[in-house]
Amino acid sequence: MTQTSTKSELIEVSSNPLTFHLHNSQVSYVFGVEDENVLAHHYYGNSVDHYSNLRRYPRLMRHFAPSPEEIETRDFSLSTLPQEFPGAGGADYREPGIVVEFPNGSRTVNFTYDSYTITDGKPQLAGLPATFAQKDEAQTLTVKLVENDAHLELYLSYTIFRDLPVITRSARVKNLGQQPVQVQRLASFSLDSPDNELNLLQLNGRYAQERNVTVEPLNTGIKILDSKRGASGHTQNPFCALIDRHATEFSGEAFGFCLIYSGSHKSIIQMDGYNQVRIQMGINDQNFEWWLEPQKSFQSPEAVLVHSDQGLNSMSQSFHDLFLNHLMKSKYSHQARPILLNNWEATYFNFDEKQLQDIISSSHDLGIEMFVLDDGWFGERDAPDSSLGDWVVDRKKLPNGLKPLSDYCHSLDMKFVLWFEPEMISVKSKLYEDHPDWVLEIPGQRRSIDRSQFVLNLGRAEVRDYLLDRMSYIIDHADLDYIKWDMNRNMTEVYDAKLSASEQGEVSHRYILGLYNLLERLTDKYPDILFESCSGGGGRYDAGMLYYMPQTWTSDNTDAIARLKIQYGTSLLYPVVSMGAHVSAVPNEQTGRMTPLRTRGLVASSGNLGYELNPLNLLENERQEVKLQIKWYKAHRHLIQFGKFYRLQNPFETMRTAWMFVSDDKKAAVAMYFNIFSEASSPLHMLIFVGLDPSQKYSINGEYTAYGSELMQIGIYPLTQNDGDFDSAVFELKAVE
Ligand code: GLA
Repeated sequence: MTQTSTKSELIEVSSNPLTFHLHNSQVSYVFGVEDENVLAHHYYGNSVDHYSNLRRYPRLMRHFAPSPEEIETRDFSLSTLPQEFPGAGGADYREPGIVVEFPNGSRTVNFTYDSYTITDGKPQLAGLPATFAQKDEAQTLTVKLVENDAHLELYLSYTIFRDLPVITRSARVKNLGQQPVQVQRLASFSLDSPDNELNLLQLNGRYAQERNVTVEPLNTGIKILDSKRGASGHTQNPFCALIDRHATEFSGEAFGFCLIYSGSHKSIIQMDGYNQVRIQMGINDQNFEWWLEPQKSFQSPEAVLVHSDQGLNSMSQSFHDLFLNHLMKSKYSHQARPILLNNWEATYFNFDEKQLQDIISSSHDLGIEMFVLDDGWFGERDAPDSSLGDWVVDRKKLPNGLKPLSDYCHSLDMKFVLWFEPEMISVKSKLYEDHPDWVLEIPGQRRSIDRSQFVLNLGRAEVRDYLLDRMSYIIDHADLDYIKWDMNRNMTEVYDAKLSASEQGEVSHRYILGLYNLLERLTDKYPDILFESCSGGGGRYDAGMLYYMPQTWTSDNTDAIARLKIQYGTSLLYPVVSMGAHVSAVPNEQTGRMTPLRTRGLVASSGNLGYELNPLNLLENERQEVKLQIKWYKAHRHLIQFGKFYRLQNPFETMRTAWMFVSDDKKAAVAMYFNIFSEASSPLHMLIFVGLDPSQKYSINGEYTAYGSELMQIGIYPLTQNDGDFDSAVFELKAVE
């Protein structure tokens, strides 16, 4: 068989049979056109220089495996073929990537290959956050598939990044028929693989205990990881990884998948009877139906596929690199983030101007750079049961408004921040009196309340316009530098009385598109404002929000020991600089635990440092210690926020946690070690460093020197005798001659 090939830098196309090979020096992804124009998947993994059709699916006789009538044969069937984007209702009995209902009631849809285009760089996705790239940083292949019986086109987009083992995918379906059809599922990607010796790693959790790392062997059957909450949620992050059974932090193969979406999501991982694995991610199809008028398209969110052949840490670093350089669009993405004082746990709703000024002044003495006025500054908000929606300053608490506080911060060269919860409404509010119909609810029916509040329907333009207006007014008048955008409950009774009965399946996704629209307008209008996303802590910590807001409040749980797991899990894909981490008072409000200030400082210094306590209540020795923590953090901030992050010891597996940050030139590093529970007659636990230059000599805490190879092979004993529970140690490494 003759083969011709056209080669662009990252995407190679060969004919006879038509095959697409996306590759860079780190990764290869191969698929091609099979019999009957079916798009089949061949390979995804380490980079190969040339692909010679080795992975074409063998012709094997299978029983109960229907084949296309035209080529009636028993050795080619969609039921077993690894496909690029499986349809529904035909011979493939596994999970479909797309389900569409047609006017005649049929839900059968199967696409065949039509054509392709290749473009330099990466086109944006209309209305959705997505990764971006310059023309010389990536190439995008768009494959057009057609469903001639059903008059649909399906466009599969694949972007490969030049310098990262990353491929992003998305799908768009277009209706060419004369009548509307209803899209009931559209995965962002589907990926089939014959490999089956895999573990599934996922990040699940709950409020105040987000992103637990859970690993289990993949077995035959279907595993669903999802959120039906209208938000990515505390309980299941839109991320998972398939890793080889022996993968560790630093060895073995890992495939990481993440969805750039902040609403209800679903990942399906299926192992069929032949032990072939299919993985799909996309908008959750529960309660989802999208009408597609003739000539209209529906675009899926984007999914990110990361490959690593050096374990989980390298997978994480690729996600961090991608998110920092190709997703977080804020001008602050690469800027050092200010150290903040947040008054929430210090005052809750009870404060006045004088008290806040004292807190600001005392914070300033400590070296803090920014003051966050959290919940309670607006309407008549003395408790969580009122005023959400009334974004007007509470003159009882702050008779002179916000400006004097903002001016005071600015006079001290500090930034001033306000908390908003724009997506919510309290029944006790002026907004509710004026617009009770803006609530997400089924009119006249019972509804669910949470934290005494309801969700505003951001799918409606008038709601978004109101919020943009009100927030703009406050931003301008209070001269804000930063906004904390909170969201403290999930959707229920998802319904919009302004839509028809048959459009109700669109409400949840319309909301998310509305949210993105509002964020786009707000961040465009105020590019100098740094935004932090929050949802009862880390309940919407996802790549969609990171696109607009380059940092997130990681968790409401500020207990240093609980935070070890939360920050460890979060770092699986989210960059350190995106993680808000605060020192709070003890006993901790969430766990009642007493931990040393030193450990609280180090855990919070492993992210974006802040303090969430009343500085006026600190004892003198604590003040001195906090001052030193802040001084230390400022000196190491760049390294911590933008260095390479390595997880060294896993709190989900041991009673210890360790991680380190290494500068790009490997001349400086900081390692932190946390002893969770101490033991009598404790075994010796070594701390083995990674990521250093083996031939470089380093000074360690200015106390002794060792070569990188010694530190990475032999390691050190991190703690001395009788270290108590929750003790910690820090090691500063500096290259010396
Ligand atoms: C949420 C946030 C907290 C705080 C409160 C205020 O729980 O996660 O940080 O802002 O709301 O109500």
